[in-house]
Amino acid sequence: MSDTATPTVIRREDYAPPAFLIDTVDLEFDLVPERTIVKSTLAVRRNPDANHATHLELMGEQLEFISATIDGQPWEQVRAHDHGLTVENVPDTFTLTLTGACDPAANTTLSGLYVSSGNFFTQCEAEGFRRITWFLDRPDVMSTYTVTLRADKISYPVLLSNGNLIAEGDLPDGRHYAKWEDPFRKPSYLFALVAGKLVALEERIQSGSGKEKLLQVWVEPHDLDKTRHAMDSLIHSIRWDEARFGLELDLDRFMIVAVSDFNMGAMENKGLNIFNTKYVLANPETATDVDFANIEAVVGHEYFHNWTGNRVTCRDWFQLSLKEGLTVFRDQEFSAAMSGGDENEAARATKRIEDVRVLRQMQFAEDAGPMAHPVRPESYVEINNFYTMTVYEKGSEVVRMYQTLFGRDGFRKGMDLYFQRHDGQAVTCDDFRRAMADANGRDLAQFERWYSQAGTPRVSVTTHYDAAAKRYSVTLSQGYANSSPAARETQKGPLLIPFAIGLIGPDGQDLPLKLEGESAFGATTRVLEVTETQQTFTFVDVAAKPLPSLLRNFSAPVIVEYDYGNDELAFLLAHDSDPFNRWEAGQRLATRELLALAARASAGQPLEANDALVQAFSRVLTDPSLSPSFRELALMLPSETYLAEQMAESDPAAVHAARQFVRKRLATALKAEWLAAYQANLTPGVYEPTPEAAGHRGLKNLALSYLSELDDPADAVRLATAQYDAANNMTDRAAALSALMNASAATGAGYAKKALEDFYARFEQEPLVIDKWFSLQATQRGTSQRPVIETVRALMRHPAFNLKNPNRARSLIFSFCAANPAQFHAADGSGYAFWAEQVIALDAINPQVAARLARNLELWRRFTPTLRDAMRAALEQVAARVKSRDVREIVEKALA
Ligand code: TRP
Ligand code: ZN
Repeated sequence: MSDTATPTVIRREDYAPPAFLIDTVDLEFDLVPERTIVKSTLAVRRNPDANHATHLELMGEQLEFISATIDGQPWEQVRAHDHGLTVENVPDTFTLTLTGACDPAANTTLSGLYVSSGNFFTQCEAEGFRRITWFLDRPDVMSTYTVTLRADKISYPVLLSNGNLIAEGDLPDGRHYAKWEDPFRKPSYLFALVAGKLVALEERIQSGSGKEKLLQVWVEPHDLDKTRHAMDSLIHSIRWDEARFGLELDLDRFMIVAVSDFNMGAMENKGLNIFNTKYVLANPETATDVDFANIEAVVGHEYFHNWTGNRVTCRDWFQLSLKEGLTVFRDQEFSAAMSGGDENEAARATKRIEDVRVLRQMQFAEDAGPMAHPVRPESYVEINNFYTMTVYEKGSEVVRMYQTLFGRDGFRKGMDLYFQRHDGQAVTCDDFRRAMADANGRDLAQFERWYSQAGTPRVSVTTHYDAAAKRYSVTLSQGYANSSPAARETQKGPLLIPFAIGLIGPDGQDLPLKLEGESAFGATTRVLEVTETQQTFTFVDVAAKPLPSLLRNFSAPVIVEYDYGNDELAFLLAHDSDPFNRWEAGQRLATRELLALAARASAGQPLEANDALVQAFSRVLTDPSLSPSFRELALMLPSETYLAEQMAESDPAAVHAARQFVRKRLATALKAEWLAAYQANLTPGVYEPTPEAAGHRGLKNLALSYLSELDDPADAVRLATAQYDAANNMTDRAAALSALMNASAATGAGYAKKALEDFYARFEQEPLVIDKWFSLQATQRGTSQRPVIETVRALMRHPAFNLKNPNRARSLIFSFCAANPAQFHAADGSGYAFWAEQVIALDAINPQVAARLARNLELWRRFTPTLRDAMRAALEQVAARVKSRDVREIVEKALA
């Protein structure tokens, strides 16, 4: 795209079916890094459901045209251009053979066919296939694929593609070939190939119906000792999908391949999932508990796509949440089941809390900025920019609401009907909603608004207790929180909100509930179906004035406003039977105090202690009936980013001061309790990545982190040094290093110097661990003597730094810009200048990654005036210099 052209906006309302269909695709690759030849033979016919077109318009990018034939005869009427190939005056049904070339070695975008560590990989979602060969590269064109790969046998001994291996053998000149056939029709974005020096961990299992399946996890030879957990996660995923949804693996073989250069987490290519190494490789020495859990979740996510995404796919990219929201919901349920069994609500709650925390910090922020869009967007410039928190995480919440409304059995009925109707098809979010509605005999017309309205809904609650009549009424009013003009435009009317509620009596026990008109008491949690702008629900026979527990288990992705007193929040934190709301009460209490302190810091007033929070936290910390993992989550303060977003004008420095003040106070007041918790949660012996063991380590390391805040951090330094030296796992080693760095920043002492050097030397050969080494330094606290930007700039010159590797760029640049707000938002604008430089540099290498970084300043209008001006200047500088459609869409929307 030229610098001056107005970007092309793609609109949902303009959807039209493709003029042609492609039934079969036969691909032949001669794999050479600098010039790979691709021969594509397509069985094409006119689409009976589309308007007549004289020419066939195929998409193609960065391709060299070599030749075209139709039905075996050279076809002269072809025009290659910047965006593809026009094949003119084509017959109704024909075989089209196209030969072209591409340059994988020079492909730094990591979209299409590229080389990483000397091996070949592909990434085709969303529109990467057109960088390999000319095609109708849109998800509603589904074909069966046969793929022949030819390459040098020594350099590329392993040749993989989708489906089943049907032939292989040697060729002249030291080359060999492999031929693969995928029996299932699929859109081009699910095509994949891998070629190179790889080895596999293999396992054979029997699927639910007794069929033999070959499972493989392919990695570079030195990583074979880090594949066991991914394999176990895959087997667990297969079993869970059979048990919970009756969905079986449909291929004889299922492969996962790890690659160290990858734009996202992983990709669900049919039968050949390609993963970022970060979400495959783990052993106790190199991976933390969080890494182990993330691998399980991502392996599950990609595996679950085999049905929700691949067997039933998206008609167009506006329907992305059809597969992503649903598959995130499925992976969340899977992880919850793995951590606590399908039925143990307290153990499941930990996962729920973590998911909601991400949603509120990241998706609510997206809703409040210039990129706000509905779960099913109405328009885009670059589809890669719409793989968002809204499509994924809010999309998952929307799917979860069906389950909240209909129960697990009703949800399953809806899923069954969805597959019965749409297996093998490319469909829409409306089709999914209709399956849920029809299977449960419900009209879900109003529910469509969850897909079409942008912005974060807000539910304001007022209550009234009539002691004489023993009636308790709850009035719910819905609207939207601070929406941008673009989001407001989409807001047409009230939503159907499943609002789960419980009432807690003065003794802390749940009250039995009877709604007006009911004859008997029912369950102690009720899902109220709110459909109007304002609605009142009345509970009868309520013996004493209750305390409401609102939106239990976060039953809808909304902000709840209710005027709780501090003592009421402390009461809920101590007694609510809903673990999510117990956690929520503590977070509300902490947020309230932190925001009050941040306001004082912002106004230059001294910070003063208030003991309500300390007492509430002390009770949680010392309550043996609470699981360690719950205590860890409840005792973690809301993040600086989340807190800054709650301010009328975000002031990261004030938030940092407030949060550090509270951390230090909690450390000081509860020092003995933290030390006791540290000792009580040691996990001696062999490392196990189980939820229980991880819970102990999490609480122990949180205790260490608080202790590192003390004015005299001697205890923390002693414990952390010993823990660092003795650690038999990365969770403990990294936490110890982090505590030492924290104590150093607070005191100016050099406690962490030796450990930091040791860490690098010890793990020099482990890229994923070196990523942690960069990221720990990028997110460390700054001091007045040494702002972190100086460390970051020095690390950019470190020999191990490489801007072309997305994991490395994320570990240093993104960590600093997105996870160290107090340092990034330095008043002198140094962080913004650095950000602008890096967005511009990345734009020339990898637009997808550059655009993610570009989004870091999109909330600029919400900051204090000085920061706002500096951020605008940085955005304007970027807007003037970047070329990619990806980054331009982001910065232009931010500045509009
Ligand atoms: N579909 C992938 C997922 O599981 C997302 C994805 C992976 C992706 N790589 C990508 C999207 C590259 C766009 C570009 O969620
Ligand atoms: Zn996905």
